[in-house]
Amino acid sequence: MCGIVGYIGKRHALPIILDGLKRLEYRGYDSSGVAILTEAGLTIKRRKGKIKDLVELVRHETIDGTMGLGHTRWATHGKPSDENAHPHRAGDVVVVHNGIIENYTELRAFLKDRGHHFKSETDTEMIAHLIEDHIKAGEPFEGAVLSAVRLLKGSFALGIMHVKTPDRLITVREASPIVLGFGNDENLFASDMPAILPYTDRMMFMKDGTMAVITPDAVRLMDFSGRGLPTEPGRYDISATMAEKGGYKHFMQKEIFEQPHAITDTMRDRILFDTKDITLGDVLLEEKGLGSVKRIHFVACGTSYHAGLAGKYIVEEITGIPVDVDVASEFRYRTPLVNKGTLTIAISQSGETADTIAAIRLAQRQQSSTLGICNVIDSTVARESDQVLYTHAGPEISVASTKAFTSQLIAIYLLAIHIGRITGRVSRQQASAYIDTLVSLPSLLDAILKQEDRIVAIAKEYSRYSDFLYLGRGISYPVALEGALKLKEISYIHAEGYPAGEIKHGPIALVGPDMPVVFIAVKGRVYDKIRSNIEQVKARDGKIISFTTADGREVPELSDAVFFLPAIDELFTPVLSVVPLQMLAYHIAVLNGTDVDQPKNLAKSVTVE
Ligand code: AGP
Repeated sequence: MCGIVGYIGKRHALPIILDGLKRLEYRGYDSSGVAILTEAGLTIKRRKGKIKDLVELVRHETIDGTMGLGHTRWATHGKPSDENAHPHRAGDVVVVHNGIIENYTELRAFLKDRGHHFKSETDTEMIAHLIEDHIKAGEPFEGAVLSAVRLLKGSFALGIMHVKTPDRLITVREASPIVLGFGNDENLFASDMPAILPYTDRMMFMKDGTMAVITPDAVRLMDFSGRGLPTEPGRYDISATMAEKGGYKHFMQKEIFEQPHAITDTMRDRILFDTKDITLGDVLLEEKGLGSVKRIHFVACGTSYHAGLAGKYIVEEITGIPVDVDVASEFRYRTPLVNKGTLTIAISQSGETADTIAAIRLAQRQQSSTLGICNVIDSTVARESDQVLYTHAGPEISVASTKAFTSQLIAIYLLAIHIGRITGRVSRQQASAYIDTLVSLPSLLDAILKQEDRIVAIAKEYSRYSDFLYLGRGISYPVALEGALKLKEISYIHAEGYPAGEIKHGPIALVGPDMPVVFIAVKGRVYDKIRSNIEQVKARDGKIISFTTADGREVPELSDAVFFLPAIDELFTPVLSVVPLQMLAYHIAVLNGTDVDQPKNLAKSVTVE
């Protein structure tokens, strides 16, 4: 996944584009570049490394044009290098690109036969040559871009400039996000809102198969046949500061601490306190034949997949409907038994994960109705699902997902109670009890966050270990998986999540003084079982870190470190028990000096396979 920015208007473009790239750096950060059209002509600066390296490169240059493009890259074609960094140029055409061109090889061969020479290994440079080829054949700039994009297969969000057409920029969207920003005597576009927010709150997410021609005072929208489309900017009340760190050291820490607000906002307007019922607004499940749903199938990746695993316990217990869960990259390549009796639910924070999008499309081809649980408005998953249930966690910038996960869980609880009420499986009294527990969660989360110092102490004691095992039973098993994922993805420490009942089937062979074992030991139907697992690990000199709601003494006495969680209905504990695990991973990573918000080799949204 990459980030692109374009600006044209009354101000110097360079600082605006560099600031926009910094706000999009979470989308990819192995190289970056800018192209600015000045009175003296075109200036392109690009380099391998992070945005700060690019800023250093241009610091002492005078680049005063008022139109430009910028790009921050997560390599797909071609390794991170200066020559593979965007923008790419062919003659008078300059392009920045987010996505993958699937027919890149044949188009590159076609252009080589027509005398084009390439400097890089990227599919993006090929796009620049393709547009230039059409201009050389006599087509005007806009027509040449339309002719070229109609030949492309794959996903592409493009920013395009033509040196000989200095009064406009063009942006194109197909299966990779582009948001337009409507300013006063200036207009912008970018891969995501944070790059636009400081300049205007009037924004519009482009749809697939559309192109925008942008001048300082106008934005013209059209489809790939050139047919004009209306521009309908909306006002988004997300302040620029929301996309800033707000005084925290990292976006991840900020987003961990935003969770009480995030889950509150996800519940807001969906709980009817007078009747103690749930309303999901425009998610009209009952009208969409909910009663005929025989099975529910969650599909997702990474942390969102763990939300789906927890969703199995939640939905089956509350609704009695059988639930399957699949990693999207597995679902899309087997023959899943979903049909019109299945509700396929795609969970995706970004709404742009390639495998999850493909999974929805497969489910729809098999007549399954689909629902997206997304955190980004108008994202591809949101638009392509039959219905969407938004989490309202706000922009999640850190690569490690935290507030989106707990908000996804809240969405699943709301959905399950709503379904249970419609099918009659959940009585009004039961719904009322569930809702009381949901409403208590934000303040309980606050109480946990206030104990960050306790987590820091545990992190200091265990940050130098190289292997961790995370164990949980029942609905705490997905939490164990999520806790392990958090630790490994930001601290680069090997961590494995496992169902606690499985340790005797293999993992206990690893147990010893050199491997901390993290237990999520919440009071519930299998508490005695998990306590005996702790005893088994203790008997083999394991280092035990327990996160427990029990008020009993056994677990603390067996543990080397313990963190107490508020006691609530076991079914709702994941929203609480995951948070100290997020903080533990965060503080261990900080102690180990890794790049918490931008871990190596990762990107915030995996928009390619
Ligand atoms: C989570 O911390 C990871 N960054 C990653 O596993 C992520 O959850 C996964 O890529 C799915 O992303 P999505 O929710 O945007 O689809």
